[in-house]
Amino acid sequence: MPDVPTIGTLLTAAQARLKSAGVDTPRLDAILLLAEASGVSEDHIRGRPDAPLSAESAAAFEALLQRRLQREPVSKILGRREFWSLEFRTSPDVLDPRADSETLVAGVLAAIPNRNAALRIVDFGTGSGCLLLSLLHELPSATGVGIDVSPPALAVAKENAGRFAMSSRCIFRLGSWGKGIAGTFDILISNPPYIESGVVPGLEPEVADFDPLLALDGGADGLDAYRALIPDMARLAAKDAFAALEVGVGQDVAVGRLLGEAGFGEIAVLPDLGGINRVVTGRKSVQIP
Ligand SMILES: C[S@@+](CC[C@H](N)C(=O)[O-])C[C@H]1O[C@@H](n2cnc3c(N)ncnc32)[C@H](O)[C@@H]1O
Repeated sequence: MPDVPTIGTLLTAAQARLKSAGVDTPRLDAILLLAEASGVSEDHIRGRPDAPLSAESAAAFEALLQRRLQREPVSKILGRREFWSLEFRTSPDVLDPRADSETLVAGVLAAIPNRNAALRIVDFGTGSGCLLLSLLHELPSATGVGIDVSPPALAVAKENAGRFAMSSRCIFRLGSWGKGIAGTFDILISNPPYIESGVVPGLEPEVADFDPLLALDGGADGLDAYRALIPDMARLAAKDAFAALEVGVGQDVAVGRLLGEAGFGEIAVLPDLGGINRVVTGRKSVQIP
């Protein structure tokens, strides 16, 4: 009679295969995928190495493992990713929400004196909606507009708004940055594509092969989106509006200059948890013509 696979034997073998494929968190990833395939908790996987696994679960695990061996990120395989303690749906059409982007959410919240104010937020390049929806989660009277040039990304953002019961407080618009958008906003945010075009193909396979190019490629110097977007931010900024832009490594000075040239003051830079200057902020203290 063939040996019945146990959680422990499957995990050990999967971990070795993932490590050989270049995955940098092989044990964690194997645990997450085995929990998904077998429909039990991560704690059960961690705590019951001797427990047998059904042939169906073992086969389902192997199918997920094959995808991870091709370097597809776990979040794309599972179709979900936690951001700001909320579980977002993700898909091949959206950038996986990144922990570094929580710096932007925290920076905006720190700049708001009254979290119950009826603030109007606009998020340019909303993707999964993670930035806008995390802010709406913390600001109960705020409303928002999420803009993206990608229709399937907007579908994911809308679905996430529904998941968090926020559909009545936000709308999603198809378009390029602020084109066609009227009115003014109190908070203007964006995490635009900012990777230099020449760098994109050399990124880790999890990013280069599985995040949409539209979410990554920022042109020759990585700053194309900021140059296109910041004038729209200035036009749509209400008096005293707060702007926050995520930036790539080494882009904070150039983006701060662009914000200043567009009429924003109080330019500041916020580091992420790794100490990298990740978010540039500014405030519009006078009416920008
Ligand atoms: C780096 S992703 C950020 C997604 C999400 N805001 C986040 O922080 O995870 C950039 C997003 O900008 C969108 N985008 C690219 N070009 C755009 C444009 N011209 N106008 C509006 N959105 C654009 C992409 O489709 C993508 O969803």
